[in-house]
Amino acid sequence: MSCSVLGRHPDVGDCEAVPRPQPSTRPAVVSPRQRWAVETMAVAPDDQVLEIGCGRGTAVSLVAGRLTSGRIVAVDRSAAMARLAAERNEAHVNAGRAEIRCAEFEPADYPPAHFTKIFAVNVSLFWLGATTSQIDRMRGLLAPGGRLYVFGERPTSVHATANATATERLLARHGFTTITTTATRGQGRVLTCVTGTPVR
Ligand SMILES: C[S@@+](CC[C@H](N)C(=O)[O-])C[C@H]1O[C@@H](n2cnc3c(N)ncnc32)[C@H](O)[C@@H]1O
Repeated sequence: MSCSVLGRHPDVGDCEAVPRPQPSTRPAVVSPRQRWAVETMAVAPDDQVLEIGCGRGTAVSLVAGRLTSGRIVAVDRSAAMARLAAERNEAHVNAGRAEIRCAEFEPADYPPAHFTKIFAVNVSLFWLGATTSQIDRMRGLLAPGGRLYVFGERPTSVHATANATATERLLARHGFTTITTTATRGQGRVLTCVTGTPVR
């Protein structure tokens, strides 16, 4: 893995900046899952948002399009995905609304108690051996009143319910209370969102 910051903000980040890729000519494909995720979070113009595991940066585009004074920082440990996300969001990065980082979530440097919304869509760290330190880290990065949104996509309602329940328990073990759990259907799959906030 070769990682670095692809678009950075002076307040956030301690990695080496690298040249940005050329803008893509490919049309942006937005899945129902990404659209639902961003609508569910009701991103406000001044939100400070962190996305963990941004993949190709589709949700970054949708979030950044809603921001004015707010910003989104998006991280993905895959160099290929982070580069695609930076390419897709070049205009938002240049405008200072978005920063794409290529890094593992946990060791990267972020301002504490800063983010009003942290989210992840289909990122396995919540289900495959999430460590205490990772979830604790998320709690420490949330501003007072901030929320963590964990989105998952499963083939059936049974799988989706089991996944959402496991996520609620995981968050509860790490000092979050679940505000709401919601679900919808998209492209023949069931999408869920567990929304938590730290117990202060
Ligand atoms: C299944 S993809 C989902 C991508 C995007 N969120 C979406 O819904 O299309 C999961 C992404 O999370 C990234 N990822 C998984 N664990 C991560 C971690 N600990 N830190 C940073 N990125 C991570 C992977 O590299 C991958 O791009």
